[in-house]
Formats: sequence, structure tokens, C-alpha cells
Amino acid sequence: EDADKLAAFEARVAADEFIEPKDWMPEAYRRTLVRQISQHAHSEIVGMLPEGNWITRAPSLRRKAILLAKVQDEAGHGLYLYSAAETLGTSREEMIEALHSGKAKYSTIFNYPTLTWADIGAIGWLVDGAAIMNQVPLQRTSYGPYARAMVRVCKEESFHQRQGYEIMMHLAAGTDAQKRMAQDALNRWWWPSLMMFGPPDENSPNTAQSMRWRIKRETNDELRQKFVDITVPQADAIGLTVPDPAVKWNEAKGGYDFGEVDWSEFYAVVKGEGPVAKERMAVRRKAWEDGAWIREAADAYAAKQAGKRKA
Ligand code: ACO
Repeated sequence: EDADKLAAFEARVAADEFIEPKDWMPEAYRRTLVRQISQHAHSEIVGMLPEGNWITRAPSLRRKAILLAKVQDEAGHGLYLYSAAETLGTSREEMIEALHSGKAKYSTIFNYPTLTWADIGAIGWLVDGAAIMNQVPLQRTSYGPYARAMVRVCKEESFHQRQGYEIMMHLAAGTDAQKRMAQDALNRWWWPSLMMFGPPDENSPNTAQSMRWRIKRETNDELRQKFVDITVPQADAIGLTVPDPAVKWNEAKGGYDFGEVDWSEFYAVVKGEGPVAKERMAVRRKAWEDGAWIREAADAYAAKQAGKRKA
């Protein structure tokens, strides 16, 4: 019987149909989705921290309003994604507990510090740019709730990417000191942004199966290449240079050649050894503890309302 169900499942995936929460699915497919979607949700939530640090220091009211809205959008993305993961039978408490205990992964990129205002530009341009590159294909991922969450997320991310590039454009056209600040931010965020796509395909344990299940629609290396191809000309256009002497247009492949990512740094950051990893988790845990009273109040209110309905 399971063999029939599996064959029917695989046929639906192959026909690009969405799998929905109540549909039968192989346990390993469910596990893979919970893993990827919960890591993705955690990344959105932890991703609020590096930028949140700059809300009080934004250089103008306009920049502050934009940054505030953007950081709020990231919270929304985290919440859609936790909801999508919950449809697979995991609870939000379990996922949050896994994050706070250090068991769950989240994107390496959020373990780097934001040292100057230009970092806010670089994050919007590069980090949200890389996120969109990865998330646009996920609008066609095979699990319905995940795919639908990505539609709105991608619209908001493209606004984030533009606001970041616009900050960089202004700095790069500003005083010498501003231009140096923009170049310095690009220098520090470039390689970590390339790491966001994950290990090279030949060292990516999950890619082959996730591609077969159409959870992933493009591989880590394919997306990284596309990101480099789009971003190098954007840097050129504002007079900045990506910090990789190996970047060179390759006519035959129709894309840029580029240097090797330092994968030992990547694996160290994945293991929790990122420059500000400990600070990030400490801030998350404190926010969770400080919010205990409101969770308790909400529970007490819900219990009171349920009691009223019974009476
Ligand atoms: N940071 C932290 N961990 C990573 C990263 C990264 N940049 N890249 C890969 N890993 C982890 C994987 O989670 C996996 O760990 P696990 O097996 O213990 O769960 C391991 O390294 C091996 O990598 P892959 O086999 O390539 O894993 P996978 O097929 O899941 O691909 C990827 C990784 C591309 C990140 C995929 O999970 C994905 O597309 N996720 C959705 C997008 C996302 O999470 N974006 C978050 C950053 S963008 C943002 O939040 C704004």
C-alpha cells in the first residue's frame, strides 16, 4: 500500500503539483521540509538583529522609517515560515527551543557584525539580494504552504534589496570617506554572502534528494553563479569593486569566473563559531525570556474566554 502511495506522491511531484499538509508524504520528505523551513524561519528572525542594531543610529528620519519597516518585514517572514513548518506537525515551541539551545541551524550570514551604516546598505543589497536569488525558485517548491509563503516574502525582499542598493549608491557617490565606508562594507560582506548559498554541490549532502523532490529547484552552485553574474555589474555601476581578483567575465560560459570561497570559515560559522554568534543567541534568548509575561497573559486570556463560552 505504501508503495502505491509513494508512486502516487512521486507522480504528483513530477507533474509539478503542490503537496498539501493533509496529503500523504514520505517521512523523509516531511523531515527535510521541517529542517529547511525551520532553519529558514530562524534565519529571518535572527536576521533582524544585525539591522535592528542600527535603527536608533540611522542617519535620517527617512532612513530610520525605512529600516524599521524592513526589520518588521523580516519578523513577518519568520512568522509565515514558522506557520508553514507547523503544518508539517512540528510545534513552534519545539522549533524555538531548538534555536535557543543551539541545536538548530540558521544562516551563517547573521553571525557577522554590522560595524558602520554602510553595512545596512550592504546587507540590503547583498544579503537580501542573495536571499531573493534563492527564494524566487522556492515559489515553485513542491510543498504548497512553503511556496505560497515565498510569494509575499519575495515581493518584500526585492524592496529590501533596492533600499540597500540605494544606500550604497548614495554613499559611493558621496565624500571620499563615505565611498571608503561603502567599499569596506562590500569587502566584508561579499564572501559571507556567497556562503549563504551553502556548500558546493559536490559537498552538499541534501541537494540531490531535495532536487528530486522538487523542494529545491536550483542547486547551491547554480544560484551562487547567478548571484555573482547579477551583482558584479551592479558594483561596477556605482564605482565599487568586489574583493575578488579572480572575478573575470567568461564569454564561453556566459558568466563570471570567481575565486574559491573559504569553506573552512563557512564550516566554522555553521558550527557556531561566527564572530558574533554568541551575542546573537544571547539577545534571542533574552527577548524570549522578556516576552514570557505576554505569552502567559495571552494564555490566561484564552483560558478565560474558553471558560466564558462553556458557561
Ligand atoms: N548557513 C547555515 N547552514 C547552512 C548554510 C548556511 N549558509 N548553507 C548550508 N547550511 C547547512 C544546511 O542547513 C545543511 O545542514 P543540515 O543538514 O544539518 O540541516 C548543511 O549545511 C549542508 O548543506 P546542504 O546539503 O546544501 O543543505 P540544503 O539542501 O538544506 O541547502 C540552503 C542549504 C540552500 C540554505 C537551503 O536550505 C535553502 O534553500 N533554504 C531556504 C533559504 C534560507 O534558509 N535562507 C536563509 C537565509 S536568507 C534570509 O533569511 C534573509
